[in-house]
Amino acid sequence: MGNQNVKHKVTKAIIPAAGLGTRFLPATKAMPKEMLTVVNKPIIQYAVEEGYAAGIREFIIITGRGKAVMENHFDHPYELADTLQKRGKMAELEAVTNVLPSDARLYYTRQGQPLGLGHAVHCASAITQDEPFAVILPDDIICTGTENPLAEMVKMYEETGTSSVLVEEVPMEKTANYGILDVSGAVENRRAPAKGFVEKPKPEEAPSNLSVIGRYVLSPRHMHHLATATPGKGGEIQLTDAMHKVAQEEGFYGFVSQSKRFDCGDKVGFQMANLYFAMQDPFIAPRLQPFLLQQADQFDRRQTKR
Ligand code: G1P
Repeated sequence: MGNQNVKHKVTKAIIPAAGLGTRFLPATKAMPKEMLTVVNKPIIQYAVEEGYAAGIREFIIITGRGKAVMENHFDHPYELADTLQKRGKMAELEAVTNVLPSDARLYYTRQGQPLGLGHAVHCASAITQDEPFAVILPDDIICTGTENPLAEMVKMYEETGTSSVLVEEVPMEKTANYGILDVSGAVENRRAPAKGFVEKPKPEEAPSNLSVIGRYVLSPRHMHHLATATPGKGGEIQLTDAMHKVAQEEGFYGFVSQSKRFDCGDKVGFQMANLYFAMQDPFIAPRLQPFLLQQADQFDRRQTKR
């Protein structure tokens, strides 16, 4: 039993962050989209903090050209810290030095070519070796105020050795935007057993409306399939295809999310995330609220004039 626990321990997370961020141009012309800020923290920091809170201690960030600024963000800023210390700016000093807990480790590796999410994940295989691992897609910010679903999924893997993905129901007309679960039994205890996955199916071809959102806890077997994967949907190496094979070999769960999620890969989702987190901040919220109400009111008036 002790050995089994060791075998199933999930301590590493892969964070794919090599995307070009074309939807946010020109903001992402010279800056990675993962460094866009939601209130006062870059998107990538939300991903690392959520993983850390789920017990992950090693993060493998898959980067590409022009992403070195992410490494600087998580580094200790000697000169800045020294200046802030001398000026007695202790709150600011804490904000820059507490970006990463001291027992967290970050590794960076480049994807080189944009061959798909499956390829990006496989770039970390030399570090994960034969261990299970989490995957955190930083575009999705998950609110962990009430629970941290990744922590639940890690616990589930450590208990059962079964891989899982976070899932959400979507309207049928949206299935072509997501990996979709092929469900093999009833949902029990928020677990939807899956016998397979289909990447971005048209509504008429979708086996369900349970969509994969950006959190995964995956068995080592996935790296084996990714090593020999051939291009799938959109000509890319798809993580979904490896998950499909593993689901048939080892079983798989969709873990039904109860958390608020913001798709920060999209301009609307990104603005919503900013407003949501700003309204959680006791200093910002009281000043932002009248402005938001006023803007909503002006928008209503413009709509009724039309
Ligand atoms: C990726 C995955 C897809 C998943 C989605 C979640 O797609 O390929 O299966 O549902 O992330 O955000 P992408 O959004 O990168 O196109």
